[in-house]
Amino acid sequence: MTEPLRLGVNIDHVATVRNARGGDNPDPVRAAQVAEAAGADGITAHLREDRRHISDADIAGLMSALTKPLNFEMAATDEMQAIALRHRPHAVCLVPEKREERTTEGGLDVAGNDNALGAFIAPLRDAGCRVSMFIAADKAQLDASARIGAPVVELHAGAYADAWAEARWDDRDAELAKITDMAAYGAAIGLEVHVGHGLTYDSVGPIAALPQVRELNIGHFIIGEAIFVGLDAAIKKMRHCMDQARADSA
Ligand code: PXP
Repeated sequence: MTEPLRLGVNIDHVATVRNARGGDNPDPVRAAQVAEAAGADGITAHLREDRRHISDADIAGLMSALTKPLNFEMAATDEMQAIALRHRPHAVCLVPEKREERTTEGGLDVAGNDNALGAFIAPLRDAGCRVSMFIAADKAQLDASARIGAPVVELHAGAYADAWAEARWDDRDAELAKITDMAAYGAAIGLEVHVGHGLTYDSVGPIAALPQVRELNIGHFIIGEAIFVGLDAAIKKMRHCMDQARADSA
């Protein structure tokens, strides 16, 4: 049976716009509340080491205002671990982070750091956070995630989304095949599978159609669309694209 598919709306880029001028507007917490009302199943926010978009105060504001789960994205650093343990969000997604990158460019190397990451996630799990690993759709990374006891993986859709955007259809199909295979493999070894990064109205369908995928996290495109149609309408349309693809594939 195909399980329901959740939509996590990433509100980082509301903060990007706010920070371009300083001050309080637009407010990411207000955006998160609009997203909840529009049908988001959760809110995702990435507190980066350099605080380029979401701030510490935003995380505190989200924790007190949200009625739906917060998926807190962070690098595996002691500073971020302490913040997560203080707030105890519903979910913590570990992502690789480089200061010079424009966005999260690759997946986390769980296979190369499994001892350290296993120790790192233990207190987060003990605190009740559902820990996920943002990884490439690669068998070794899924195996390592399961080995260290992460209950969830989020497969990086960036290469798929880029191929779609640049009309490289063979590459798109190859990337989709990897995500398809690894979503099935992940579910078979007991992991909950999420997918995210770079998804749009066009590219979301084939991913939403994968029966093992339980959650999509989508931000930049939705916030960009919101400039033209409003956040409520942009989220409802994304939700519709997802639901349609899911229904068509059932
Ligand atoms: N999932 C993860 C783990 C991410 O790091 C990001 C980007 O911050 C997203 C999903 C959302 O990606 P986008 O903003 O491109 O939709």
